[in-house]
Amino acid sequence: MDESHDHFGALVGGTPLLALRRFGERRNLRARILAKVEALNPAGSIKDRTAWGIIRAAEAEGRLAPGQLLVDLTSGNTGIGLAALAAARGYRAKFYLRASTSTEKVALIQRYGAETVLIDDADFLAPGGLDAIIGRVRSENPGAFYTDQRANPANPRIHHDTTGPEIWRDTDGAVDILVTAIGTGGTISGTGRYLKARKPGVKVVAVEPGPGSVPSPERPQVDTVEGVHRVTGVEARLLPANFDAGVVDAFLPCETHEARAAARTLAREEGLFAGPSSGAVLHAATVLAGRREHAGQTIVAIFADSGERYLSQDAARDAATAAERP
Ligand SMILES: Cc1ncc(COP(=O)(O)O)c(C=O)c1O
Repeated sequence: MDESHDHFGALVGGTPLLALRRFGERRNLRARILAKVEALNPAGSIKDRTAWGIIRAAEAEGRLAPGQLLVDLTSGNTGIGLAALAAARGYRAKFYLRASTSTEKVALIQRYGAETVLIDDADFLAPGGLDAIIGRVRSENPGAFYTDQRANPANPRIHHDTTGPEIWRDTDGAVDILVTAIGTGGTISGTGRYLKARKPGVKVVAVEPGPGSVPSPERPQVDTVEGVHRVTGVEARLLPANFDAGVVDAFLPCETHEARAAARTLAREEGLFAGPSSGAVLHAATVLAGRREHAGQTIVAIFADSGERYLSQDAARDAATAAERP
């Protein structure tokens, strides 16, 4: 298929950088923070790149027949991107999500005509839970194309080929630090590798959930940020194959309440309403921008999606907090 006629694919990427000037001036930050606004992708998140990269590669390899069923395990955004692409290109799609996934994301996937299966959050935390769920996704859908965002090399490759070069071009090579969250690791690995190849001094920083925001079998319902996963201290075999640990120079923690507060502040000070994973990235970028050794440097912060995708979670949380008050 001629890519120039494919509207969805042609619209993916090319997202702008927004300088967070007022935010920086109010806090006397020493470095400038540039936000890469991934909500401006056609289905609303950075995962449109992943979806397009995976579909494009699979089509080029002749692995997708008309009407083919696509399946994956997703925290929502990849499902939305893949569901939109599946609709645009004549495939069917089915996604397995945590039961705690925001209702907006589940509804969006369904609007694009895809099927959703919700899995109890506790099932992911049981020993061998993730392997069992991946096994279930495969066995329940024989003959489907498992897009496998955790291990499909087309995921980091599209970030290497698009996200990295866009940042390089739009900062005129001035980028010093990249800050992102880690889900599958596609963003950090692909973008980080590209930027380090262009400028070996670039530092790649990952934001991780703080100790109070990591779910465990004892506390499965702890409030987490979708798309922000812990990597340090996790057994290597449980990490996604697409995460390249060698690319990361530092990890910074962020508690869920700090991520949500940062996203709220950003909306009020800059008029940009980003999702909680962007709040976590902003929290980490703010810590880095305050450090003396980073004076005059340029920090690029990847803002994966929009806060509109999580409004119902905010409303539910506000109601619960109000109910707790005496
Ligand atoms: C909201 C959000 N932020 C960040 C990420 C992390 O992206 P990646 O999977 O490329 O590591 C994801 C993906 O899971 C996400 O959904």
